[in-house]
Amino acid sequence: MLNVALPKGRLGEKVYAMFEAAGFECPSIKENNRKLIFENEEKGVRYFWVKPSDVSIYVERGAADIGVAGKDILLEYEPDIYELLDLGIGKCRMTVAGPKDFYDDGVRTLRVATKFTHIASDYYASIGREIDIIKLNGSIEIAPILGLSDVIVDIVETGTTLKENNLEVKTTILPISARLIANKASLKFKAEQMEAIMKSMKEQVKAYD
Ligand code: PRP
Repeated sequence: MLNVALPKGRLGEKVYAMFEAAGFECPSIKENNRKLIFENEEKGVRYFWVKPSDVSIYVERGAADIGVAGKDILLEYEPDIYELLDLGIGKCRMTVAGPKDFYDDGVRTLRVATKFTHIASDYYASIGREIDIIKLNGSIEIAPILGLSDVIVDIVETGTTLKENNLEVKTTILPISARLIANKASLKFKAEQMEAIMKSMKEQVKAYD
């Protein structure tokens, strides 16, 4: 049985469609219910929906053989997995954002609110800027509005969240997209299925490029 961790949500549906096109369909997954695990015995595949930021944990520990995770999560947590392919979907960017009237004069220690403390620290270390990191778990955009931080390091997709909170992108740190990832042992022991998936997905990525 090949275990596949799918990121719950819109991205996950696109990802499932790619696995389906690769010949690993599992029609029961389209039933409208709250089940989290779906299996197609005939095809030898089992899918489960997990929180997007948890996919790499399942894959690293071998509970999933393969999965799809954002580059942001891979950079932030550095899981011990193989990154197989950039799927070219789930595109967004990691940015520094702040209030329109904020300008970093480089004098005071910069207060940075973020979920991505590792990415933020690495970025500011690379430009030699001293910062005070404030780790938050969500709704990062309100931190500068309430004076908790000067700027945020966060993901921007459409830019709507920033706009509606009167913030703007100051710097783009990195482009982000979804990556096909595999457990290191599974890549050896389930090589045939893994290679079939990789080959098909490569073709699918090329086709809509
Ligand atoms: C992400 C990010 C922004 C928003 C950006 O949040 O943290 O808040 O999406 O998207 P936009 O540019 O299209 O408006 P997410 O929905 O993942 O939720 P969370 O960070 O609060 O968990």
